[in-house]
Amino acid sequence: MFKLAVLASGRGSNLQSIIDKLHKGEQDISIEVVISNNKSRALKRALKNNIESYHIDDNSYNKEKYESKIIDIVEERQIDLIVLAGYMKVLSAKFINHFRDKIINIHPSLLPAFPGLDAQKQAVKYGVKISGCTVHFVNEKIDAGPIIMQAAVEVKYNDDEESLAKRILQKEHNILPEVIELIADNKVFITKNRQVKIKEE
Ligand code: GRF
Repeated sequence: MFKLAVLASGRGSNLQSIIDKLHKGEQDISIEVVISNNKSRALKRALKNNIESYHIDDNSYNKEKYESKIIDIVEERQIDLIVLAGYMKVLSAKFINHFRDKIINIHPSLLPAFPGLDAQKQAVKYGVKISGCTVHFVNEKIDAGPIIMQAAVEVKYNDDEESLAKRILQKEHNILPEVIELIADNKVFITKNRQVKIKEE
């Protein structure tokens, strides 16, 4: 069994896509635990699907203590991959080093364009004609780790932040589970030049 921990802070639609497409399916992938720093909808989705979940209140601990609680939960369950699915906190270098190349994130732009918050708003404001989403490995720099997969979305003349975000989200729900499955199948490699290669059948 390939074991996932999903970290989320909000609505949890990406979590839901992993539940629907992968969790306990024929690929032998299971979400062992969902962790949230707030009382998110993601936690409700976990509960509804009988997935163990934790609310670790980030206001109740300092960063080190907060992260050490997550590390304990992840290690106890011998997790293979940590998936950041709408997780709104920045992980420390210590945490990232602890799970080097075992953390992935989904970001709603074609990185390296528009990292950080409000990526869809940034894209509309800039006036790009194509945006999209990116799944990447997490390193110490925000939204700057090796890119695994991207999907493009056309920005229409009458798009606003919301309408663009909605269409990008549909693509997110495809590529995030796809990448997880590829990693579980041992088909994803990072080269010395930090490019990601995906082994083809
Ligand atoms: C997504 O757009 C994701 O790319 C970004 O935060 C949003 C989370 O959405 N990092 P959800 O909570 O998965 O519905």
